[in-house]
Amino acid sequence: MNPVFDAIADGLATNGYAVADQFLSQPEVEAIHQGGGFGTDTDFKKAGIGNKQSLQIQEAIRGDYIKWLDRRESPEAVRVYLQRLEELIQYLNRALFLSMKDFEVHMTVYPVGSFYKRHLDQFKKDDHRKLSVILYLNNQWGEQHGGQLRMYLPDQTKDILPLAGRLVIFRSDEIEHEVLPATRERLSITGWVLDRLAELKHI
Ligand code: OGA
Ligand code: MN
Repeated sequence: MNPVFDAIADGLATNGYAVADQFLSQPEVEAIHQGGGFGTDTDFKKAGIGNKQSLQIQEAIRGDYIKWLDRRESPEAVRVYLQRLEELIQYLNRALFLSMKDFEVHMTVYPVGSFYKRHLDQFKKDDHRKLSVILYLNNQWGEQHGGQLRMYLPDQTKDILPLAGRLVIFRSDEIEHEVLPATRERLSITGWVLDRLAELKHI
């Protein structure tokens, strides 16, 4: 029994989301920064929003930059996280009788002032994204920096700070959410748990 995994399963079953602090330890987060997990700026691409909208429209919706990860070629410190995510998924499959098969994941950078407006992660024509999973990597982050993940729950909104080592997981088909603008660069690893094998189209 893993108490962290257990609390996540419980949160998902009861509320459709869960927040786990220190999903990665501080040294594990540090290793991602030191080990070049974010590579160079040129590795990152402007994130899109599905259909081909003009850059101007896209910019009004989301301003982040992403780099899709290939599990085999990721730096060792990133693989430590991906391995733990894999174990979590297997645990959730058993605990909640799910049949998740795979996940897709990218490194994410929100430059100062950027945001992602309210949305749902599941695509209209492709419903294979079942769970959204975000690991935050920002040391010494406080309220004053903004950048909260705002989740729109049935009876309230919930704001979550992107603290280093914190994992947030939620149902991709149900929970609308947004990223508020921040006064600092905001780093994370964003992924989706799929009910089929991931396609290699991104890589
Ligand atoms: C996304 C997203 C939330 C966050 O990439 O789809 O909503 O807190 N990210 O980074
Ligand atoms: Mn999202």
